[in-house]
Amino acid sequence: MRRRNQGFGRQARRRYSNFVWLMLCGLVIVLFFIVLLSKGNQPTSRPIVTKRTYKQDRILEGLNVTEEMLSPNSITRQLNDQISLAKSLVVIAKESNNLQFAWELSAQIRNSQVLLSNAATRQTPPTITESETTIRDMALLLYQAQQLHYDSATMIMRLKAKIQSLEEQMSSLSDKSSKYGQIAAEEVPKSLYCLGVQLATEWFRSPTLQRRLVDRKQSGSKLEDNSLYHFCVFSDNILATSVVINSTAMNSKNPNAVVFHVVTDEVNHAPMKAWFSMNDFRGVTVDVQNIEDFSWLNASYVPVLRQLQDSETAKYYFSGSNDNNRTPIKFRNPKYLSMLNHLRFYIPEVYPSLKKVIFLDDDVVVQRDLSALFSVDLNGNVNGAVETCMETFHRYHKYLNYSHPLIRSHFDPDACGWGFGMNVFDLTEWRKRNVTGIYHYWQERNVDRTLWKLGTLPPGLLTFYGLTAPLDPSWHVLGLGYTNVDPKLIANGAVLHYNGNAKPWLKIGMEKYKPIWDKYVDYSHPLLQQCNVH
Ligand SMILES: *[C@@H]1O[C@H](CO)[C@@H](O)[C@H](O)[C@H]1NC(C)=O
Ligand SMILES: *[C@@H]1O[C@H](CO)[C@@H](O)[C@H](O)[C@H]1NC(C)=O
Ligand SMILES: *[C@@H]1O[C@H](CO)[C@@H](O)[C@H](O)[C@H]1NC(C)=O
Ligand SMILES: *[C@@H]1O[C@H](CO)[C@@H](O)[C@H](O)[C@H]1NC(C)=O
Ligand SMILES: *[C@@H]1O[C@H](CO)[C@@H](O)[C@H](O)[C@H]1NC(C)=O
Repeated sequence: MRRRNQGFGRQARRRYSNFVWLMLCGLVIVLFFIVLLSKGNQPTSRPIVTKRTYKQDRILEGLNVTEEMLSPNSITRQLNDQISLAKSLVVIAKESNNLQFAWELSAQIRNSQVLLSNAATRQTPPTITESETTIRDMALLLYQAQQLHYDSATMIMRLKAKIQSLEEQMSSLSDKSSKYGQIAAEEVPKSLYCLGVQLATEWFRSPTLQRRLVDRKQSGSKLEDNSLYHFCVFSDNILATSVVINSTAMNSKNPNAVVFHVVTDEVNHAPMKAWFSMNDFRGVTVDVQNIEDFSWLNASYVPVLRQLQDSETAKYYFSGSNDNNRTPIKFRNPKYLSMLNHLRFYIPEVYPSLKKVIFLDDDVVVQRDLSALFSVDLNGNVNGAVETCMETFHRYHKYLNYSHPLIRSHFDPDACGWGFGMNVFDLTEWRKRNVTGIYHYWQERNVDRTLWKLGTLPPGLLTFYGLTAPLDPSWHVLGLGYTNVDPKLIANGAVLHYNGNAKPWLKIGMEKYKPIWDKYVDYSHPLLQQCNVH
């Protein structure tokens, strides 16, 4: 986490002064790694700026962009993420009269675009080898941009102007070519930045809003009442979290007894608080915490954080030069390592007084009342989950390295995998059996990444091995983000999970599954309208 880095600790503590900047960064988490890298060794290589012309029209033909963006190791997407962030930084740099920096950014944007355009011309996606330098150079520049931090009020103004101009550019581009429009799957994330900025502005401007949340909090010790239904969501996506909570509320028989515990990052903390205090979800209680406030979540306790401070690890995720590029970039996506993702292994620590919690990913929609889940008998197990091995390949051997003796000696390769994203956790059992300790044990053993590569499912499978009770499959229907799912399963599913790349809030989301999610978004909300969320 950023704050553990000495140089950045002070900055992070100046909570709101640079949250806007961070907001921009939220998506391009690549930066995260640069920050880590910079701790040990200052970036030495300077971006190689070459003057090549970018033939924009070339990108418009050839490559089927939708297909490529859906692929699990989309470099196109990573390049596009960087380009869109860099573009907004160019504007800010120019306004701050840092023309040299603006020029460097622009040149680097052109480099990335050339790559995309070449790929489009030859009709194959860019390869890791050819993109690596470009991605790294851009990442270095983005890191430098952070050094030129700006004061937040001016940043908000500038961001607003920038968002407007992006909007104009985008609509003119979409007119020119629908294929270019597909590349602009970025449009939705851009609306999400905008929503975050608007909400943060509201929050700091409106004491009423702030008071309302405090009042609600005081109105009950509901947050710790074990006779209620407790849910937790760890997310940096306001809209997605809102859908999870709204859909749970709309389908709940007793919304007054539902308590949502949201944990988000520094950047999204104020916006989320604003959103959940200005909207009511049938009386559901919503609490929003900032992960940066958990001082116990530090490198001396958490192996993942400790490993990230190790420059070798950082280098691996950042430059990926350790294994001759055999690992697709997806598995190096820093998002998979984000602490919000790993927080699921610390639920008893986050909620010390709770006994049972349902954990929901932010890419789910709830379609039924879930209270019955709280009384399902887990037979002394810690984790209630839906098994996923109906298709033979979702077994342990698919996720873990069975060439490794530690894996071979501890785990049955044919053990059934299960879905993370809708889990009932018995926190009493969890504490009793020291499950967090088990997780730490395996995470420590994986310092060289030979047990598994990345993600939270593999360590989850190890941690909850022999501690997982199977639930009826209709409780959790997976796959809506990457495959065709049996309509009968969808109709009967209590929780639908858009796992995969095609998230319903992205342009590349699967059209046929979007309406199920859209139903729970109030697109007529003035802020959503202002930000062009549709
Ligand atoms: C691109 O690929 C997607 C997904 O495979 C497909 O649905 C679409 O028809 C393709 N578009 C073109 C123009 O080939
Ligand atoms: C780190 O976390 C441990 C327990 O999780 C705690 O005892 C310790 O005080 C924390 N250190 C800092 C610097 O906050
Ligand atoms: C939990 O496990 C960890 C690591 O395996 C160990 O250090 C710790 O003492 C254990 N805690 C308890 C309460 O048993
Ligand atoms: C799997 O484990 C073995 C034994 O430790 C190791 O040599 C190998 O590199 C690992 N495979 C991967 C893909 O990490
Ligand atoms: C929640 O969902 C309902 C429809 O199911 C919708 O009418 C309402 O506007 C949503 N509320 C918010 C705040 O999104």
